[in-house]
Amino acid sequence: MTPSEVKATLSFSDDSPSVELPIYKGSIGPDVIDIRKLYGQTGKFTYDPGFLSTASCNSTITYIDGDKGELLYRGYPIEQLAVQCDFLEVCHLLLYGDLPDGAQRETFVQTITHHTMVHEQMQFFMRGFRRDAHPMAVITGLVGALAAFYHDSTDVHDARHREIAAHRLIAKMPTLVAMAYKYGLGQPYIYPRNDLTYSANFMRMMFATPCEDYRINDVLVRAIDRIFILHADHEQNASTSTVRLCGSSGTNPFAAIAAGVACLWGPAHGGANEAALNMLGDIQKMGGVEKIGEFIKQVKAKDSKIKLMGFGHRVYKNYDPRAKLMRETCHEVLSELGLHDDPLFKLAMALEKIALEDDYFVARKLYPNVDYYSGIVQRALGIPPSLFTAIFALARTVGWIAQLDEMIADPEYKIGRPRQLYAGAPRRDVVPIGKR
Ligand code: CMC
Repeated sequence: MTPSEVKATLSFSDDSPSVELPIYKGSIGPDVIDIRKLYGQTGKFTYDPGFLSTASCNSTITYIDGDKGELLYRGYPIEQLAVQCDFLEVCHLLLYGDLPDGAQRETFVQTITHHTMVHEQMQFFMRGFRRDAHPMAVITGLVGALAAFYHDSTDVHDARHREIAAHRLIAKMPTLVAMAYKYGLGQPYIYPRNDLTYSANFMRMMFATPCEDYRINDVLVRAIDRIFILHADHEQNASTSTVRLCGSSGTNPFAAIAAGVACLWGPAHGGANEAALNMLGDIQKMGGVEKIGEFIKQVKAKDSKIKLMGFGHRVYKNYDPRAKLMRETCHEVLSELGLHDDPLFKLAMALEKIALEDDYFVARKLYPNVDYYSGIVQRALGIPPSLFTAIFALARTVGWIAQLDEMIADPEYKIGRPRQLYAGAPRRDVVPIGKR
């Protein structure tokens, strides 16, 4: 961290001595005021529920400029990565800090490819789940269970263990997600095939059966690969912060990633793509494009609990760059499949246009986020809505593990332990039960 020449001074209206606080500069983006010694010097905490103004760590992985609508992985714009690289190159970038050259790429692909099978015993573990379990419940369990299967990569303080765990997680997530899907359908699992690319192998494990192989379609494989790239990391979002906090206790990497999966499940986070598609389905049932006005009215009503799902973001106050790329992919996939007239896509574009011109959304800077179009793409690929968040988890695993690795390797890392403003009862004595 580079110290700034400027210092912040915190003064109090009751004549308590003021405190000087150091400021650090990032390479780009806002500076931070270092408040680590504040409690020691003043006996006061800072108060920031929801982390609206708090940088929880320093990181070199991902940068977001929410006002510009810019997303960089290790400095590279997401628009360039999505067009010029594949997911495994992006994984290499996130894990090791740079895009691989030809030889590094070959080695990395080889390593990941040779970790794609899961322990055969995993099938029996899977059998404990009801067939109608939500895939995110299953994936949370399966990822946590990896710690029980791979004992040789569970020491989070050992850099090589962390690296092996990273390779295993990236390699095995597609296998586990496809297994969760097949289990729900009652179909046999399809084993990974090492002669296929990461994304083609995933599509085959999802859609092949023992009676009929999956015919690889490059446009569709490229679409799922792009979904993976766009979801690979997003700095200190809720699930990534969960992984860091969970990992900060020194727990094993698989357990920390399972915590991230659990957090991602929520509809305000990774569950939004499923919710956005369901919302479009509901508007379609109400009468489609003609009913958009009525729906928007419901969203805007005072104290409304209805949100325009796939819109709004804590950080982006401009168009989410991932949403633009996803809309492009949506066009490609629908035209490849001859679904140009897909009613939900038409509805989504009409709803987007109306919302972007509406004062309510304009004033609050609410724009489409990555989840707005990803549901339509996934549905066209044949992926059921209940699996959307599991696909997000598969893609985000590399980001989680890169962030966990960065935290553990940081000499300033400490167990995460937020404090609170206590507003409960002051000290009181227990009254014997007969006198309460
Ligand atoms: N529809 C309608 N109103 C909204 C929406 C929305 N999607 N999002 C925010 N608002 C309103 C909100 O009601 C509030 O209005 P007011 O000031 O009148 O009370 C204002 O905009 C600010 O919202 P906020 O809830 O304070 O913003 P936040 O930063 O806490 O929440 C969010 C961000 C993503 C949780 C929220 O925008 C949301 O719930 N969006 C819908 C769910 C969604 O699409 N989530 C995916 C996020 S991107 C993928 C990921 O990171 O997982």
